[in-house]
Amino acid sequence: MNQAPFRTALFALALGLAACSQPSQSPPLEGARIGGPFALTGADGRTVRDTDFAGKYRIVYFGYTYCPDVCPVDMANIGQGVKLLAKSDPDAASRVVPIFISIDPARDTPEVVGKFAANFGDTVVGLTGTPEQIAAVAKSYAAIYSKEGDPKAKDYLMSHTNIAYLMGPDGKPIALLPAEQSGQAVADELGKWVK
Ligand code: NI
Repeated sequence: MNQAPFRTALFALALGLAACSQPSQSPPLEGARIGGPFALTGADGRTVRDTDFAGKYRIVYFGYTYCPDVCPVDMANIGQGVKLLAKSDPDAASRVVPIFISIDPARDTPEVVGKFAANFGDTVVGLTGTPEQIAAVAKSYAAIYSKEGDPKAKDYLMSHTNIAYLMGPDGKPIALLPAEQSGQAVADELGKWVK
């Protein structure tokens, strides 16, 4: 069997990877298949679409308001990151909208998710939806979630990916934000990409 074409393909792949790892300023998630159209429900019960954020940088995070630890900490760092950016570059910060999307629509009503989001800053948007809408948007962002433990228990936990995506004004992915680290780390990363 002739393996030359396979090797050529591998070589081309290696070249591509080498180009990506050079210290260029191209966004880490450039070209990644992350994001896309969505229709969800905002705190006031109205439909909110991805196109409502056209022209804005968006920080998209999936979680749930009953999360005992990770979600509130990550969201606090995201909120703090935008506030720190606002001190150094108010114009840039005004173009950033953090969006919290619930992966627990059974408990996260529009009102509940709106109140939760407001804890982390005036500009933070909380969204929920039907289970089908949430499944669709989570899939487009490669976010995974599932119910933990007894499915009949009222105070169940959800396991879920904790990823903060920075999306551009055109809705395309730019980078992951270090929401698990600190507000300053988020602000520093935002400063690299938000123009
Ligand atoms: Ni969580």
